[in-house]
Amino acid sequence: MILSVRDLPQHVGEEATVRGWLYNLRSKGKIHFLQVRDGTGIVQGVVGKGDVPDPAFAACEGIPQESSVVVTGAVRADARAPGGVELHLRDVQVIQRSEPYPIALQSHGPDFLLRHRHLWLRSRKPWATLRVRHQVIRAIRDFFDSQGFTNVDAPIFTPAACEGTTTLFEVKYFDEGNAYLTQSGQLYIEAAAMSLGKVYCFGPVFRAERSKTRKHLTEFWMVEPEVAYATLPDIMDLAEGLIVAIAARVLENCREELKVLERDPAPLEKIRKPFPRLTHAEAVKRVNARGVAMAADDDFGAPQEEALVQGEERPVMVYRWPSAIKAFYMKRDPADPAVALGVDVIAPEGFGEVIGGGQREDDLAKLLERIEAEKLPKEAFEWYLDLRRYGTVPHGGFGLGLERTVQWMCGTEHIRETVPFPRMLYRICP
Ligand code: 4AD
Ligand code: MG
Repeated sequence: MILSVRDLPQHVGEEATVRGWLYNLRSKGKIHFLQVRDGTGIVQGVVGKGDVPDPAFAACEGIPQESSVVVTGAVRADARAPGGVELHLRDVQVIQRSEPYPIALQSHGPDFLLRHRHLWLRSRKPWATLRVRHQVIRAIRDFFDSQGFTNVDAPIFTPAACEGTTTLFEVKYFDEGNAYLTQSGQLYIEAAAMSLGKVYCFGPVFRAERSKTRKHLTEFWMVEPEVAYATLPDIMDLAEGLIVAIAARVLENCREELKVLERDPAPLEKIRKPFPRLTHAEAVKRVNARGVAMAADDDFGAPQEEALVQGEERPVMVYRWPSAIKAFYMKRDPADPAVALGVDVIAPEGFGEVIGGGQREDDLAKLLERIEAEKLPKEAFEWYLDLRRYGTVPHGGFGLGLERTVQWMCGTEHIRETVPFPRMLYRICP
């Protein structure tokens, strides 16, 4: 019977065939120990001379790491084995003897590994990270789907900037001139929210970031809910609920992966409601009191974020921002136009901003004023202005960076390891 490594413990005493790759080979005299990985786990196969036909035994001699193999044998309980089972092999088929594999089990430098990302994906930590990423994606979709949201995709080619003109990637678009890769699906799902009420888009976005920090990619995934009739407090509750659901899912489904990643689960267990909520003005005061410079109309850099969350076990929500440093679409407090009704969520443990969002400007005249003040191309936003002409309502939403979130869950030093093929300032290959 063909079985996954993951399912072997339920088949002790039976015979199983595992199809995979050789992770490691040790040979002691007349016995070979083959560690075989199949994507669901690693199992050790033991083969002694005489257990298999001589040519099969000889074929095991010095098989290079990552050779593709199909092994068959009896599933035996073995308390010392990871997963609690071993395979006593009676057949070993080498599908392909690999060429000498470039990635040894011991460590390599990051540049070497990134150049071999297509192979590095097979190693233990990338394997675990991609599995956590998958669970985070599932948790996000389940969270919104179970609350009556409709998933609506936003386009990737766009005619104008959503998040400022300094991080736009330009592409030639036939006779239409230049188009841009989207920085956020927000403007489009605002339109969809006026049709469906509660929506989210979830896809790749692009930022021509010249930064080389451990938190920036040029291509990353963002999930963006948008809710008609929602105000800032509604959006803050939604953001809090989403993060709690993601952490709970990772703890429930990824214990083994967290172990492989050497990620202590204890900090994730502490991600519960309610999250501390500070206005931007209160946050600045706290940061200053902790000896880090920050002016009243500054955004957070890494040192400010660290000072803000120092001693916090839960993410910190910063709301009511100086409108001067927030995007044109953000609603200003009607009672105090210097304040924008935005919210950022800053993760603990130094993982930084994972969510940005807030309430949208729903007033046509005020939105026009902002577009003119920022010298944005009004024609390109005409369709967006229509949303304020035809049945405008209060509404809001946010964007959660998938890779930042996976980085936080996995405790990964650099964001590049949270995406299968990272795109960064100096890296577009493989
Ligand atoms: O704060 P941002 O720029 O917000 C928006 O784009 C809004 N239009 C979203 C909305 O309201 N619908 O980006 C949202 C999140 C950030 O909090 C961060 O987690 C992530 O996207 N992010 C990045 N992740 C990786 N690399 C980058 N260069 C990122 N820039 C933002
Ligand atoms: Mg932001």
